[in-house]
Amino acid sequence: MTQLPKADVYLDTNRVISSISPLLFSGFAEHMGRCIYEGIYDPESPHADEHGLRKDVLAALSEMRLGAIRYPGGNFLSGYNWLDGIGPRDRRPRRRDMAWQSIETNQFGTDEFMQFCRKLGTEPMLAVNLGTGTVQDAANLVEYCNAPTGTSYADLRAANGHADPYGVTYWCLGNEMDGPWQIGHLDAEDYGKKAREAAKVMRYQDPNLKLVLAGSSSSWMPTYPDWDRVTLEMCWDRVDYHSMHYYAVNSDDDTPSYLALTARLEEFVDTLSGVLRYVKAKTRSKHDVYLSWDEWNVWFKDSSGDGKWTVAPHLSEEHYNLEDALVVAQWMNVFLRKADVIKSACIAQIVNTISPIHTTRDGLLKHTTYYPFVLFSQLARGAALDVAVKAPTYETTQFGEMPLLDVGASYDEASGSHAIFLVNRSLTDSLPVELHWQDRAPQSIQTVYQMAGTDPKAVNTFENPTNIVPVKIDAPALQDGHATLVLPPLSFTVVDAC
Ligand code: AHR
Repeated sequence: MTQLPKADVYLDTNRVISSISPLLFSGFAEHMGRCIYEGIYDPESPHADEHGLRKDVLAALSEMRLGAIRYPGGNFLSGYNWLDGIGPRDRRPRRRDMAWQSIETNQFGTDEFMQFCRKLGTEPMLAVNLGTGTVQDAANLVEYCNAPTGTSYADLRAANGHADPYGVTYWCLGNEMDGPWQIGHLDAEDYGKKAREAAKVMRYQDPNLKLVLAGSSSSWMPTYPDWDRVTLEMCWDRVDYHSMHYYAVNSDDDTPSYLALTARLEEFVDTLSGVLRYVKAKTRSKHDVYLSWDEWNVWFKDSSGDGKWTVAPHLSEEHYNLEDALVVAQWMNVFLRKADVIKSACIAQIVNTISPIHTTRDGLLKHTTYYPFVLFSQLARGAALDVAVKAPTYETTQFGEMPLLDVGASYDEASGSHAIFLVNRSLTDSLPVELHWQDRAPQSIQTVYQMAGTDPKAVNTFENPTNIVPVKIDAPALQDGHATLVLPPLSFTVVDAC
């Protein structure tokens, strides 16, 4: 192993990008594959609690400290009638879910989801069906969730055992309505009209809602970024967030480019930021709309989506490896670097389907990607810092010359705690990094966590569940606000200092 020339990271706690939104480390749970059934809800598992919720899953998710969970879809949402999922379980219909060709038993629905969120201390982020669903259906669901008793849907909630309103704040206006695959797909103008009317009547039900407009399904959509401009122009003053979705792939097995994917992710954010500024100016509005990256993850090794009309089929159960974990870590660095415009982000999804957590009836495995999520969610606090980085570079086929080091940082004024997140993209070489605190240097570095390996394809398995996990390494000495670490190739390192 050779050693690269030194990189320098300059930290200044006055160079604040923005405070870190409590929704930045959120999750997404869809009725797809085994995310809900056999994942979150599995009454036949020895780990089920009295409500059928998996206690081992709850424990793993609670470490992820999810700000919010978006539910119930996804493509599933656009054919879902929320009335199917409430009331006595034995009277709930079995339905054919057209999105994933699966059988939906409806044994888990809105009330069970609320209970699940409460157990986790997480905000629910409910989505309304704007595919087959109507504006009236959306308004009725808001009534069911948020209205005091005395009218029919609120009384139905009470009859189902929940007298007090849930007070759900965050609501998504449909899902990926730009996608031709979407049930009830619309063009931008038709979606803009439907979303605008849904937003209006949902707010008639409850003026306190925060609403998310459905943005482009990906930056590779032919309608991107016009879809975003048109729908935002139509809905600007009615919405608070605009969604973006993206799934990373390494289908060509071009790992040097894959590890530099942040170039594409940042370009996506920058383009949408430009659209937001343009529409704000054009509409002469004082109102702001932020980005909600409410589906993001690595997804390409198992993209199965045909449930063959079975209940809880194994769909899109990705097994994540070391290089995937390094992409996830850098993605979360992008969230910090763009914290002024990204105010919500949901990893898609949270259990089994495209997920860092994998269950069997009696077991649970944490994939490699679980760990960077937890480290960010637990340690990135307060404000994101604008870090200056000088690093050696390398050539990639997809993005040209890229730095070998990817950095994000946070500083929490209240506790005085610093966190620095560092990825060495080199497959072969270690990288010395000098940290320079230009003001308010911490007293000492408490802990350094590191995930590394020599094989980018290394995974965790039930037989070897701790193959790729973070370990604590020796903290470097801190002198006059300077500290030096040597990052091994293919590594993610977190410096926790106070
Ligand atoms: O998360 C899986 C699917 O990806 C979602 O249902 C859809 O919104 C996206 O295309």
